Amino acid sequence: MIEYFDNLTNKVNGSLLEGFDCEQGILDRAIHYALSVKGKRLRPLLFLSLIDAFDTDQLQFMDIACAVEYIHTYSLIHDDLPAMDDDDYRRGMPTVHKKFNEAIALLAGDTLLTAAFERISKARIHPEKTVNIIRILTEGIGKEGMAGGQAIDLEFKGNKDEIMTIHRKKTAEFIKATLLSAAEIVGMDKKEKELLAQAGLTIGTAFQMADDLLDIEGDEKLVGKKLQKDEVNLSPNSILYFGKDFVKEEIDKSFKKTLELLKEVKIEHPPFLNLIGRMVYRRK
Ligand code: IPE
Ligand code: IPE
Ligand code: MG
Ligand code: MG
Repeated sequence: MIEYFDNLTNKVNGSLLEGFDCEQGILDRAIHYALSVKGKRLRPLLFLSLIDAFDTDQLQFMDIACAVEYIHTYSLIHDDLPAMDDDDYRRGMPTVHKKFNEAIALLAGDTLLTAAFERISKARIHPEKTVNIIRILTEGIGKEGMAGGQAIDLEFKGNKDEIMTIHRKKTAEFIKATLLSAAEIVGMDKKEKELLAQAGLTIGTAFQMADDLLDIEGDEKLVGKKLQKDEVNLSPNSILYFGKDFVKEEIDKSFKKTLELLKEVKIEHPPFLNLIGRMVYRRK
């Protein structure tokens, strides 16, 4: 299993930097930097291992795998800016605005978001599927998804009724969209897509709860970012409002529910299920 994901991660890493050349100036250098520092590559791995679950050659779809990592990296660069969470470390290294400057960090994010759709447009898949994937992903990261979730996250004033909506929008909708992009490629039917969407939201929300838990009790060296910041920042960290025991139980329940939903759509591919588990039971 470790070998399966190490191999796939190397292939993703090998393709991510395509088109970015440090010789071409500061914007390319900043993007190169952001993509070179070690991330888990969770979203590309989810996408590729789900395609593999359907015995389809996953490597044909590397453009889309890279596109989701570009989108994710853009979201982190902007999330770390002083106007948002104001973080100095990410993935064990100084954040892009610290290493370069704020304007370049903004533009690196903008460029990565744009490059994502450029790569999707070049993917060798049927044009109708391409359009569907663009629709799925834009829904996941726009106003009803990640960007909208980030806005209510920043406006959060301590109303705990908002927390699960924030988690769903800022984190889970994009994870759902990543899974549905793979579903589009392998041609799942409408009912199957609905169940997969539910699985994506369930595990995606639990993934953010696991991130909340790491902020409270994680090891900074492993996690690669400054921890115990959520309380000071008045961030909607579920542990602070619902307690550790409750959140850990919710994570367990969400994991079980996700496995049940996946079983209903007959997704039992061991690498994919292993990755689903590692999304919520993790140390980084
Ligand atoms: C961090 O995402 C932000 C959240 C949505 C919780 P990841 O935990 O996937 O970050 P990297 O890509 O491994 O750095
Ligand atoms: C990040 O949420 C969500 C997105 C980037 C969309 P957080 O702000 O809680 O994540 P970290 O802790 O900075 O990775
Ligand atoms: Mg944030
Ligand atoms: Mg943050």
